[in-house]
Parts: sequence; structure tokens; C-alpha cells
Amino acid sequence: MPGLTIGDTIPNLELDSTQGRIRIHDFIGPGDYVIIFSHPADFTPVCTTEMAAMAGYAKEFEKRGVKLLGISCDGVDSHKEWIKDIEAYKPGTKLTFPIMADPDRKAIKELNMVDPDEKDAQGVNLPSRTLHIVGPDKKVKLSFLYPACTGRNMDEVLRAVDSLLTAAKHEGKVNTPANWKPGESAVIGPSVSDEEARKLFPDGFETADLPSKKGYLRFTKV
Ligand code: BEZ
Repeated sequence: MPGLTIGDTIPNLELDSTQGRIRIHDFIGPGDYVIIFSHPADFTPVCTTEMAAMAGYAKEFEKRGVKLLGISCDGVDSHKEWIKDIEAYKPGTKLTFPIMADPDRKAIKELNMVDPDEKDAQGVNLPSRTLHIVGPDKKVKLSFLYPACTGRNMDEVLRAVDSLLTAAKHEGKVNTPANWKPGESAVIGPSVSDEEARKLFPDGFETADLPSKKGYLRFTKV
């Protein structure tokens, strides 16, 4: 059975965290986007670099109205000790977001964050490096699903957030092309006619001249 995926409502789980008990739906305040991201285990190399990197990007996410929520299968006391290592690894970094604890691994199953190949010493599956970007409507907008061997690129997480926010701001009338970065042109969605596009984008748009002459690849400033 496929697990949690884009378009699904994030389960309203209640878990202990480094900042007290968290009920996921309550954590997502009105208008908030939330990034829920898992790590295989505390005190492991890639996870430590990822957590430090995420802490370094926290202000950028906050500026965009995005809250961060980590989860790993170890307990809260372990997380709190691990945070000392994370902050020491990148001096000047403060880990300001909560890390939830999932010692019985029930939450990672419901959140589709189980790595089928990575197991702990007892043979129990560890979390993968999953990251769900959840919208204010509590639905999953975008997911990363990485194995333990591959640390995530926080620039790409931020870029994905900027893309989602741009599309949402324009009510789905624009999308962002390959390798897009904020400040670059977006593309006009296929459901928008040229006539509607002229009204929506007073500065106009440019249509790529392609062999099919279908005029579907239209760039506009956003
Ligand atoms: C790591 O963070 O380096 C790691 C964690 C679990 C399994 C493999 C690698």
C-alpha cells in the first residue's frame, strides 16, 4: 500500500519533542507552512551535518512563514544531548526548532518515513531522510525521500519552498521551470489561455518558438 504522499493530509500525531509535547495539526498555525523532516538516528554523521545545515537555514525559512519540525527515532533525552554536538559542530549555530521523538517507530510509519534497508542493532527499521513540506491546509505539498547515505541539500529545500510559495501566491496560474531560482521568470500554467495571461500578467509574457507551434511554453516575470 502506498504511504503518505502529496495531496494527503498529514496525520495529526501527538509526540514528545525537545520543546514539549507536539500535536502536528496544532503546530501548523494559520497560514503556516511546516517542513517535517526525519533522520535515521541521533549521533550519526550525515544526520549531524544535516541538522546543523537546517539550523543554519532556519531564519530563511522563518522569513517565508515556514516552521521546521524534525523527527528521529531516539528519545527526547538523546535528542537534547545530540543538539549539543550539532551546535558544537557548527559554532554559532542554535537549533531553534523542535525534534520529535519516535522510539517505538509508529509515527515514522504513518508519516511514510521508514527506510526499508537501514536497521538498528536490534534489526528494527530506521527512518529514511524524508522531508514533507506541509501547507496551511495541513496537506503534503512536496516530499523528498532520500536514503541514509545521501544528505539533503538545504538550498534545494529552500528553492522548493520558494517555488511552492510562488505557485500558491499566483493561485496555481504559474509554475516554476527546471533549475528556477527566485527572481527568474516563471512559466504560465497550461490551463491559462493567452487572453487570461494578458490580463493576469500586465507586463506580458514571452512564448518560446518551438517546432510544434503550440505556444505552450510561456515565461513571465513574477
Ligand atoms: C548517518 O547519518 O551518517 C547515517 C545514519 C544511519 C545510517 C547510515 C548513515
